[in-house]
Amino acid sequence: MITVRPEMPGDEDAIRQVNLLAFGRDVEGKLVDLIRGSRFYVPGLSVVAVDGNIIVGHILMSAAMLVSSHDVMSILALAPMSVLPEYQGRGIGTEMVRFALERAKSSLFPAVVVLGHPEYYPRFGFVKASDKGIYAPFTIPDEVYMVLELIPNVLDNVTGTVRYPPCFADL
Ligand SMILES: CC(C)(COP(=O)(O)OP(=O)(O)OC[C@H]1O[C@@H](n2cnc3c(N)ncnc32)[C@H](O)[C@@H]1OP(=O)(O)O)[C@@H](O)C(=O)NCCC(=O)NCCS
Repeated sequence: MITVRPEMPGDEDAIRQVNLLAFGRDVEGKLVDLIRGSRFYVPGLSVVAVDGNIIVGHILMSAAMLVSSHDVMSILALAPMSVLPEYQGRGIGTEMVRFALERAKSSLFPAVVVLGHPEYYPRFGFVKASDKGIYAPFTIPDEVYMVLELIPNVLDNVTGTVRYPPCFADL
């Protein structure tokens, strides 16, 4: 049976391994380590899926900045998310997103951004970020950059560009 829970001390190596096997490279696992060691890490918003005592999935939401012409707002960025190849397509990613979003709603963060599949994230309430006046700091197809308000309508009258922590620069 799969259970989903927040990351605990001692999970670090397994999380790195899940990212390595899911992405087929070590970049995302290293990013998770860098974020965990930074002030952008939000304890409780690094979440794992566990089969017995084996970690089979991981999702991270960490702090980023939404910069507008007159304000800087601290928001969450969802990245990366990984499920071991042999466990993919069974709803584990979905369970982790829902669990992490529930916890995020009890945080003080007003919104979450994600770069990902435009057919996948709307089921959790994400909408095209540009429709809310929110933009990525890099050039990507409009529909792959999405945002979810954790506080309803918090982004009304806000327009800005997301700035990621320096550790994202290598991605
Ligand atoms: C993306 C990922 C975490 C999804 O986990 P999962 O447990 O397979 O997800 P679920 O079973 O809950 O849902 C499967 C859905 O994920 C969608 N999906 C979202 N992002 C995806 C991605 N990058 N690659 C493949 N499928 C993805 C599929 O389209 C599928 O949609 P459907 O329900 O309409 O069929 C997993 O496929 C994975 O680790 N992929 C490799 C790493 C990756 O690309 N991560 C995302 C970028 S950070």
